[in-house]
Order: sequence, then structure tokens, then C-alpha cells
Amino acid sequence: MYKVTIKIKFLIKLIYRKTIFYADHLYQKLFDIILQKDFSEEVTSCNYKQSKLYEVKTIFKTLNTNHKVFLDVGSGKGAVLFLAKKFDFIKIYGVEIDDCLHSISVSNFKDKKDNRIKLINSDIFKINKKTLDSVNIFYLFNPFPYNETARFVSLVTKSYQRNKREIQIIYTCSKYNFLFTQENIFKEMKEIHFFVSNSPTIIFTNQSGQSYD
Ligand SMILES: C[S@@+](CC[C@H](N)C(=O)[O-])C[C@H]1O[C@@H](n2cnc3c(N)ncnc32)[C@H](O)[C@@H]1O
Repeated sequence: MYKVTIKIKFLIKLIYRKTIFYADHLYQKLFDIILQKDFSEEVTSCNYKQSKLYEVKTIFKTLNTNHKVFLDVGSGKGAVLFLAKKFDFIKIYGVEIDDCLHSISVSNFKDKKDNRIKLINSDIFKINKKTLDSVNIFYLFNPFPYNETARFVSLVTKSYQRNKREIQIIYTCSKYNFLFTQENIFKEMKEIHFFVSNSPTIIFTNQSGQSYD
């Protein structure tokens, strides 16, 4: 009897996960069709995957975005930036290394100009210090393997040392969390578990006294 209950629970969970997964897929497709943009994951040039937008929206809602500068590290076709537009960020940067993805993002934003948005076709490790040192909220959806993640943490740490300010790092599909807290500058502020994602989203902060729920 116990085993049967376990199996039923597992089956319900599986069906629920699949339903949410396909609902999300449909939501993203509708996003493309209604907005007439190309946010699809169909690209041949690199290993591109798009964030789940309802998850990103939930994450943004937990943060104070007012007058903050946002940067999507590896912004792909710009879907996360499109969502960021709906929040009160003062400036929104998308940095994408891949030329093809960058130009798709440019055409996705060519109508309806929003002066807060700036798309940069560059390696994040080569962007100018002035831009980097103005950022308060970094967003990462799996752009890097281990070594680059460590390099990125060091990049942000040095930027903080040059310009002491409030910084939050949103790390989705978190794999190398420990790298972020090694220098004792950032600590975990929040951990969000989404039902269809296997690993949680972790928000790191350099601010003391920010609650962990
Ligand atoms: C998984 S996609 C995420 C796309 C988008 N941020 C999102 O959440 O929908 C990761 C992106 O990071 C880009 N990327 C990888 N290394 C990068 C680097 N060093 N500098 C800038 N972009 C990079 C890839 O080309 C890819 O488009």
C-alpha cells in the first residue's frame, strides 16, 4: 500500500511538472506571436536557451528595482530585457557575445524605443568599466562553465571595490553557488525553487541585513 501511494504521488508530480513545462512553452510561443518578436530558442550559432519568463517575473517582483541598473549577462535575443522594461529600472543592459543573437535582439527592440535599454555586442569580460561599475543587479542564466563563473565573480568583486554600491546577483540554474560567497563579499539573500527547474535560483547580495526567506 505504501509503495502504491509513493508511485501515485510520483505520477501526480510528473504530470504536474509536464503540464507546467508545456504551459510555459505555450506562453513563450504566444509571447513571440503576439509581440511579433523572435524570442524562440531556434538558433544554430550557439548553445542558446531562454529563461522561463514567468520565473524571471517572479524574481523581479521580489527585488527593489526602483532606480537600479540591470544587466543581463549573455542576453541572447533579449527576452529578459523585454520583461525588465516593465519594471522601474533606471538603465537596462544586455551584453551578448554572439553576433547573430545580438542582431536578433537589436531587431526585437527596433520599434518602440526605450532609452533605458542598451544592447552591447561584447564578451562580458571586455565591457567598459564605467558600464560595469554602474550595475546594481546582474542576471545570469547559465552563461558560463566553472572557470568563467569564477572569473565573473572576480570581475564583479573588483567592480564593487572600485565603486562601492548595492549589488545583487540573480543566479538561475545555479550550479557553482559556492564561488559567489568565497570572498565574503556576497552572501545568499534568497533561494527560490521553481517547480519545473531542477536547481533553484539564488540571489546573492553584498548588503547586510537583507532578509533570507
Ligand atoms: C542560456 S543563454 C541565456 C539567454 C538570456 N540571458 C535568457 O536568460 O533568456 C546564455 C547566453 O550567454 C551568452 N554568453 C556566453 N558567454 C558569454 C560572455 N563571455 N559574454 C557575453 N555573453 C556570453 C551566450 O551566447 C548565450 O546567449
